[in-house]
Amino acid sequence: MTKVLPSLLSVDFLNLKDELVKLEEAGVDGLHFDVMDGQFVPNISIGIPILDAVRQQSKLPIDVHLMIENPEQYIELFADHGADLISVHLEATAHIHRAIEQIKNKGKKAGVVINPGTPVSQILPIINTVDYVLIMTVNPGFGGQSFIEDCVDKVLELNTLKNEKQLTFDIEVDGGINAETAEVCVKNGATMLVTGSYFFKQDDYQAVTQKLKG
Ligand code: DX5
Ligand code: ZN
Repeated sequence: MTKVLPSLLSVDFLNLKDELVKLEEAGVDGLHFDVMDGQFVPNISIGIPILDAVRQQSKLPIDVHLMIENPEQYIELFADHGADLISVHLEATAHIHRAIEQIKNKGKKAGVVINPGTPVSQILPIINTVDYVLIMTVNPGFGGQSFIEDCVDKVLELNTLKNEKQLTFDIEVDGGINAETAEVCVKNGATMLVTGSYFFKQDDYQAVTQKLKG
């Protein structure tokens, strides 16, 4: 079953509490939480105080996407403040095994993320150790960007590898996901869909969640 994770980057922060209730009622599978540091990506987003507020209000799994330099320095902090899944960019650290280990040692699900320009072959050395792989379908930093079609080939390549090796990790996609791009991604092996601007534009969160699940 495909999992749907709305990206809180596009939520109405003035109504965060009500929105979190609505998301839980809509049957989404988790909340995607985008952390940007103005270094790894050219934008700054949300951090610990907002995570605390979300954690206090919602029982949904929180999927923290770290778009930051030196992720190793902050993994434990995000784990201690209620993250259930944490992903780090391969491009952001010279020590990806260490970062993944840190996440697992905190008892959280560990993910590795690759940018559109990074080939799937680069994650081969850690493919056996991760709970999920996030294939970015836009260059990270902003919500509302257009889906990069070429990334679909990477989803397929990763899924083929996963099947060959009989592995069970999830394949997550993030960036420009709407009903059409979601369908293409799922057909090619995606099992987790992150959706921000498209999702929060809808009036009926339950209907869009069902639609995305296919
Ligand atoms: C992009 C973020 C995404 C973003 C997706 O840097 O990682 O999670 O919120 O937003 P949409 O769905 O609008 O592309
Ligand atoms: Zn994200």
